[in-house]
Amino acid sequence: MGLRSRIHAQEEPGPGAGPGDNNRLVAVYRGKLLEEIDLAEMSALSTADRRDRLERVLGHILSREGPVLSTQQRSLLIRRVVDEALGLGILEPLLEDASITEIMVNGPDQIFVERSGRVEQLPLRFASEDQLMQTIERIVSTVNRRVDESNPMVDARLPTGERVNVIIPPLSLSGPALTIRRFPRAYTLAELVDFGTLDQHLVLLLAGLVRAKLNIIVSGGTGSGKTTLLNALSGLIPDGERIVTVEDAAELQLQQSHVLSLESRPPNIEGKGEVTIRDLVRNSLRMRPDRVIVGEVRGGETLDMLQAMSTGHDGSLATVHANSAEDALLRLQTLASMSEIKVPFEALRDQINSAVDVVVQLVRHPDGTRRLTEIAVLASHGRESFRIATIAEFTAEPLTPGGTVHGRFRHYPIPRAVADRLYLAGEQIPQAFGVHLDDSQLSTREAQ
Ligand SMILES: Nc1ncnc2c1ncn2[C@@H]1O[C@H](COP(=O)(O)OP(=O)(O)OP(=O)(O)O)[C@@H](O)[C@H]1O
Ligand SMILES: [Mg+2]
Repeated sequence: MGLRSRIHAQEEPGPGAGPGDNNRLVAVYRGKLLEEIDLAEMSALSTADRRDRLERVLGHILSREGPVLSTQQRSLLIRRVVDEALGLGILEPLLEDASITEIMVNGPDQIFVERSGRVEQLPLRFASEDQLMQTIERIVSTVNRRVDESNPMVDARLPTGERVNVIIPPLSLSGPALTIRRFPRAYTLAELVDFGTLDQHLVLLLAGLVRAKLNIIVSGGTGSGKTTLLNALSGLIPDGERIVTVEDAAELQLQQSHVLSLESRPPNIEGKGEVTIRDLVRNSLRMRPDRVIVGEVRGGETLDMLQAMSTGHDGSLATVHANSAEDALLRLQTLASMSEIKVPFEALRDQINSAVDVVVQLVRHPDGTRRLTEIAVLASHGRESFRIATIAEFTAEPLTPGGTVHGRFRHYPIPRAVADRLYLAGEQIPQAFGVHLDDSQLSTREAQ
């Protein structure tokens, strides 16, 4: 049964008068079920067999002493009790539903999901704060983590790939909060073109830039599709190059044969053993990579990454959280200044001007679509203020409230300096762009 029909079924008047009664029935029969089963025998079964077995035992219990129920109500009750007994209770069907990309639980009474880019509240809730805490504890214990008053925040990746964040009272004022992000699907650039994120001309250009080993920063807000685009761009790196990826939670799915994936590690329960992104970026440079890919720069590791980019690891890629191409550069400068190596602010500009070649900006529109809104190349040098030249942009038509975002991609001549690098690498300039012949005449924007 798909999620929609399941939720729909739960909205129907179920066994008992209201949702409270429903939850009470589930709790009662969950208790009875757990009394009747042999846990040792259960643990020897596969998950599917376990579900089967629980359903059968519960069926017997209901026939023996259950309330009078319609077939639909009965199978719904069985489903919910078994889901609860097996694991994550009302979250189970949500986790099963592939169209859901994010589950957000704000205390026991509010469950939101993101589906196709849109967030909606579901008519579901946990029976109590205790029940939600039990579910949370079950989730975090699968990764040997603990959540309690002395350790009220947990960020972890499940063995199945989902990323889980938990924060509980007193830090969270709305009750225990649980956020589950499904392991992002790896989309190809062709799929992203189908979604309208970018067009075919942009794909050709980006492919050339990646193969010609320009350093590219993918910038965007939360959930704007940075990791997804980074993954698709990484797919264009020719096989045979030695690639080292560094991430907080390994999300990239590279298909090349020579890839080393590094993942940072939070401190353990005693607060020991932490390995930061920074440690990994530094370590990656000692691994003789052709390219370094940093999932997201958030702090001092930015300085190490910039150094890598300007010292022979051309063709490196990273994402940064920023709302425009200019902001991305200023943000890199701020992040790099967070390193414990104190580099004067102007010197960081020099570092960025020589390291970064291209910024690709992404936006998540109100209608849920993710769009590439700009490709900008750096036109500044040395310690000059950042200046960028737009080579592609998306111009949106005025949005009608609640409507979808329409618009079109525009392509501009590529600065000579970048075109030369493409030529040198044997890449074509895609026809939609052409080449700007004299870079001193280039129209640029300054970042301030
Ligand atoms: N171009 C796209 N079109 C449609 N959906 C997309 C696109 N890019 C990403 N998504 C979906 O949006 C969600 C967020 O994507 P992704 O993780 O790539 O974003 P992000 O910017 O890296 O997020 P974060 O800020 O959390 O790191 C995922 O469910 C992903 O499948
Ligand atoms: Mg990301």
